[in-house]
Amino acid sequence: MEIRDETAADHIAICDITRAAFADKPYSDQTEAEVIEGLRAADAIRLSLVAVSADEVVGNVVFSDVAIDGVAGWVGLGPVSVKPALQRGGIGSVLIKAGLDRIRATGAAGCVLVGDPGYYGRFGFKTVPGLGYGGVPDDYVMALAFGGALPRGTIVFHPAFGAA
Ligand SMILES: CC(C)(COP(=O)(O)OP(=O)(O)OC[C@H]1O[C@@H](n2cnc3c(N)ncnc32)[C@H](O)[C@@H]1OP(=O)(O)O)[C@@H](O)C(=O)NCCC(=O)NCCS
Repeated sequence: MEIRDETAADHIAICDITRAAFADKPYSDQTEAEVIEGLRAADAIRLSLVAVSADEVVGNVVFSDVAIDGVAGWVGLGPVSVKPALQRGGIGSVLIKAGLDRIRATGAAGCVLVGDPGYYGRFGFKTVPGLGYGGVPDDYVMALAFGGALPRGTIVFHPAFGAA
């Protein structure tokens, strides 16, 4: 399996995989594909990696800049999706680890996300007292600092997350 940056030729496959991955998820509002398209249209994708197996895109992870109480330097992880038939085979983990390595190398302060602590804890993400996002329970708001202090405050994602 190859992990590489998305290209224009991957856009439809990324959209299809994202829709399929979230289609039956009760915690999803099924707008994730539109969020990615909105980020792309606004040139706000910081990094989008695809996992490719036998010339087929089988997974995708997207990172975009966030502000935390007006402070820049942090990057948001998501959406991330793996082709349903291939989930729980390690592809998501490989994508996320590769993406975090790339983001860390750019000098970012760290990465935040809204997601299941049972999954993201394995990458070093922690819930942080005082770090929040909208009406989401704090247990689902997580951060990974790349060396410095963990952030506190309210995360503001790119408007594409709310516009979809
Ligand atoms: C979440 C996702 C990207 C993970 O990719 P993956 O390739 O399936 O995951 P991996 O094989 O790397 O890791 C498997 C582990 O993740 C766990 N896992 C998978 N999806 C999970 C979820 N939504 N919540 C909690 N744990 C999850 C599995 O139970 C498994 O745990 P284990 O190793 O303790 O058995 C993928 O399952 C997916 O596309 N899910 C639907 C979309 C989604 O929920 N995206 C994330 C939104 S926050």
